[in-house]
Amino acid sequence: MSNVFYAPGEQRAAKVNDLFAAIARRYDLLNDLQSFGLHRRWKHRVVELAAVQPGQRALDVCCGTGDLALALAQRGAEVTGLDFSPAMLEIAETRRRKKPQSEIVNPKFIQGDAQQLPFPDHSFDAVTVGYGLRNLASWETGLGEMLRVAKPGARLVVLDFGKPPNALWRAIYFAHLKMTVPLLGWLFCGNADAYAYILESLKHYPAQAGVAAKMRELNLSNVRVLDLLGGAMAINYGEKSK
Ligand SMILES: C[S@@+](CC[C@H](N)C(=O)[O-])C[C@H]1O[C@@H](n2cnc3c(N)ncnc32)[C@H](O)[C@@H]1O
Repeated sequence: MSNVFYAPGEQRAAKVNDLFAAIARRYDLLNDLQSFGLHRRWKHRVVELAAVQPGQRALDVCCGTGDLALALAQRGAEVTGLDFSPAMLEIAETRRRKKPQSEIVNPKFIQGDAQQLPFPDHSFDAVTVGYGLRNLASWETGLGEMLRVAKPGARLVVLDFGKPPNALWRAIYFAHLKMTVPLLGWLFCGNADAYAYILESLKHYPAQAGVAAKMRELNLSNVRVLDLLGGAMAINYGEKSK
C-alpha cells in the first residue's frame, strides 16, 4: 500500500507539511468525528500524567492546533507549543486568542522542527507529544530530542495510534483506519488520502511497544504503557533519570 503523503527518508517532512496544510482547517472537526470525541479524554490523561505545577515549564512537540499546549497552560505551567506547520500554528494561535484574557498569558506557539528542537538541554519539567512522533522521518531522533530538552526528573508523555496486541481487534481496527477514516476525510475534508495516511504511517511506526523499548534503552525511569481501547490508542510515559 502506498500513499501520496507518505514518503520515507528526506522527502518525509515536506509531504507531512503538505498534508497538514491541506487539512488544517478541518483537523479539529475530523479528530472529533474519527475518535467519537474520545481524543479529548485521552489528551486529558496526557495532561494529568505530565503533572505540571504552576510555574513549571512544559513543551508540547508537534502541537498542531494546540489542544495539549492549551490544556497544559490551564494548569498554570509556562508552555511552549512547537510545530513546523504554519497552517496548524495559525489555528492554535487563533484558539489561544479566544481564551479569556486571564488565561492567555501562554502558551507561546513557535515554528520549529521536532527533530532539532531549538532549546538548550534540561529546559522543561514536562515534554508531551500527541500524534506527532509517528509523523517524523525519524521518531527515535524526535524522542531523543524530547529527552535532551527535558530536565532531570521531567516527565515525557507520548500519545499516538497504537497496535492492539489482540489479532482480531487489530484487524477490525485497521479496517476502520483503512475504510471509515478515509471516508470521513473525503466527506468532511474533501481529502481521503490525508486520512488514509494514518494507517500507512502507523505501519511504519513501532507504536507503544517500540516506544517503550526505546524509552528503556534511553534509560528513562518509571517507563509505562497505557493501552486505550485495547491498544488502539496508547500513551507512553517515562521520566528522565536524575
Ligand atoms: C496529527 S497532528 C497532531 C496535532 C496535535 N498534537 C494533536 O494531538 O491534535 C501532527 C502534527 O505534527 C506536526 N509535525 C510533523 N512533523 C513535524 C516536525 N518534523 N516538526 C514539527 N512538527 C511536525 C504537523 O505539522 C502536525 O501539526
